[in-house]
Amino acid sequence: MNKKELIINLNLDLTKEYAAMIQYIQHASMLHGPEYVEVIDKILEHAKDEHEHAVILTDLIQYLGGIPTVEVYPRQTSLDNREMLYQDLTYEYDALNSYNQRIAQSEQIGLYDVGQKIRNIALEEENHIIDLEKALGILKVDP
Ligand SMILES: [Fe+2]
Ligand SMILES: [Fe+2]
Repeated sequence: MNKKELIINLNLDLTKEYAAMIQYIQHASMLHGPEYVEVIDKILEHAKDEHEHAVILTDLIQYLGGIPTVEVYPRQTSLDNREMLYQDLTYEYDALNSYNQRIAQSEQIGLYDVGQKIRNIALEEENHIIDLEKALGILKVDP
């Protein structure tokens, strides 16, 4: 891992932050039914968090000497409530996994400050996962 490779990876993460923000906004408008009223509020909060993450990443990429991308990763949607939430959850699992790798990669080249910033983002992705797992009724208990 070197700084150049880290910038490439962070730019891929950035395309996914843009995508997640768009996807959440669209899903918030498409979710339907009284049981989804609170979920809609939650995922609109997620959309704001993803916007913030994108801003942090663009600044980080710039700071490292790269050019932040304007590319957007593919988005997903559905007419089914649970399907949409599963699509969002899949993105969140992927984001957390990527950021855990990015923390290790940053620290591997001595960029502990960069790793710390990414760690802060990762913590929020973990909270997004908790929100979505609760909304979907996923109970991860090993009986
Ligand atoms: Fe994010
Ligand atoms: Fe997220």
